[in-house]
Amino acid sequence: MIKNIVLIGLMGSGKSMVAKALEARLGLPRFSTDAMIEAKEGRPVRDIFKDPGEAYFRQAEHAVILELARKKGAIIDCGGGIVLDPGHLPLLKENGVVFHLKTSPEVIYNRIKGDPARPLVNVPDPRERIAQLFKERMSLYDQADVILDASDPSIEGVVARIIERMSHERA
Ligand code: S3P
Repeated sequence: MIKNIVLIGLMGSGKSMVAKALEARLGLPRFSTDAMIEAKEGRPVRDIFKDPGEAYFRQAEHAVILELARKKGAIIDCGGGIVLDPGHLPLLKENGVVFHLKTSPEVIYNRIKGDPARPLVNVPDPRERIAQLFKERMSLYDQADVILDASDPSIEGVVARIIERMSHERA
């Protein structure tokens, strides 16, 4: 059975688009932690963040990660905050190869500015918030198995590199 393909990185790094392209190319099942939480809770992430709040969202996210980490041969599109729990990456690495889709704060800002679905950056100074998230999280994302430059708006290069790397993997 082949390993999971696990995508991590800050919001706006292109994880969802890359996951969908991989699904189309490889025909593997694709899971999004955010979509699974939304389906279980029956409402969008931004509403869960408002009430009952981020701590509740993180618990729901943890439950989803425990479920997904057990899969084999799946594409797993992780919400940007999954690295906040230090247990998550080691767990996801057991059955999977973890890819960090790495970009710059500027690229992230341009991709997600004004998006109401991003509660973490719906603040008066989103640039400052993104810079802060970079500082807090980059070393965590860099604990991925593979770090890929995802700044280019074309995702084809990223998809090709993931497929190439996975061709060497057998769980
Ligand atoms: C978050 C990223 C979001 C979503 C939530 C929190 C984060 O997912 O899980 O808004 O903490 O970085 P995406 O990275 O898919 O946007």
